[in-house]
Amino acid sequence: MTDLLVHDAAELVVGPEDGELQTIENAALAVEDGIVVAVGPSEEVRSEHSLEDAKKAIDATGRTVLPGFVDPHTHALFAGDRVDEFVARIEGKTYTEIMEAGGGIPVTVEAVRDASDEELVENLLAQLDVMLEHGTTTAEVKSGYGLDAETELRMLDAIRRADEAHPVDLVPTFMGAHAIPQGMDTDDYVEEVIETQLPAVAEQGIAEFCDVFCEEGVFDVEQSRRILEAGREHGVEPKLHAEEFTRIGGAQLAADLGAVSADHLLCANEEDADALVEAGVVPTLLPATAFSLDEPFADAKTFVNAGSPVALGSDLNPSCFVHSMGLVVSLACLRMKMDPEDAVLGATANAAGALAQENGVGTLREGTAADFTVFDLPSMTHVPYNAGTNRVEAVIKDGSVVVEDGAKQTPVGDRGDHRD
Ligand code: NIG
Ligand code: FE
Repeated sequence: MTDLLVHDAAELVVGPEDGELQTIENAALAVEDGIVVAVGPSEEVRSEHSLEDAKKAIDATGRTVLPGFVDPHTHALFAGDRVDEFVARIEGKTYTEIMEAGGGIPVTVEAVRDASDEELVENLLAQLDVMLEHGTTTAEVKSGYGLDAETELRMLDAIRRADEAHPVDLVPTFMGAHAIPQGMDTDDYVEEVIETQLPAVAEQGIAEFCDVFCEEGVFDVEQSRRILEAGREHGVEPKLHAEEFTRIGGAQLAADLGAVSADHLLCANEEDADALVEAGVVPTLLPATAFSLDEPFADAKTFVNAGSPVALGSDLNPSCFVHSMGLVVSLACLRMKMDPEDAVLGATANAAGALAQENGVGTLREGTAADFTVFDLPSMTHVPYNAGTNRVEAVIKDGSVVVEDGAKQTPVGDRGDHRD
């Protein structure tokens, strides 16, 4: 019996077909046991899955159905905020100047170290609620505000607990090498990450990826390489913050290592794009960061033209307070001149690629998980066209309606939200 039938959608996004986005007009989708069992023209699907026999139906007339957004790069777990830096940036200070004056990541590190385990979980759940209401159904979350073994492990454990308690699926990344703890020598800290933090993380099996902030004044290419190679020896695959504020060779390193993704890339060039495509590394662009920090946007066209599947992420963190992948898609179109098809692919199937997710995450085909979003909008192009307004009407995660009429619902069954 059909558990859920979504019918008469003006447009439904399926996913990539030979690199191009495939969509269906006047579409329907049927779900059984949390899995998409049919997707296609409404009439066709309804001949097999009648409205009368469906346990639940959503009339999507005049609406657009997209695979749930996959956000492949977030620092969504933190404590406190840095709204004062938001004001300082408006007054003309740059991210680097703020960092040099004692602001930035260390401020959040102190707040995270002071937070209890419960507070960390609660904080992340609160961010996930907002992300879900904006259509995100899978998200990567990094540690990296602990900078010592104990707090990095506490962060990863909070990510694990939030994943169990919340409908959004989480992919955990260890990022002990996000910054250098105050007063510590960088090489000594690299040793600590390799000798103490990574083995502890690997032993608990609580991270899928290892990420490093490869940047002038943070970790150089050789230090980043050592950490990522050590991570790989522990079975934690590399990702990299590369060429964000300065071009120091992070993209080339990501290519050399065959990292799963290279992220930011604001200063990357054509040579970098070619190296990444060649090595099968997914360039992951984060336009909300450039927007929030008033930095030049990454050159998305260079990556698209190099033939790369470009992914898009929010980079949600205290200096980029953006939860909405819809806004990220709008910025990708408006400020990086990506066409709407590429931008939507970037926020769904390609983002899943940047997290090495298999089983069709970020697509809607027979056999994939029923993770999707119904927008109160008449076409896919209207999603980026609506910049900054949340037009998500419903979110379905593993076949359950978790957002209805734009608001998060009390989840049923074992995915229940522990606060309810
Ligand atoms: O991806 N670049 C380093 N890390 C984050 C910022 C984290 C923070 O400012 O707290 C980023 O932009
Ligand atoms: Fe980041």
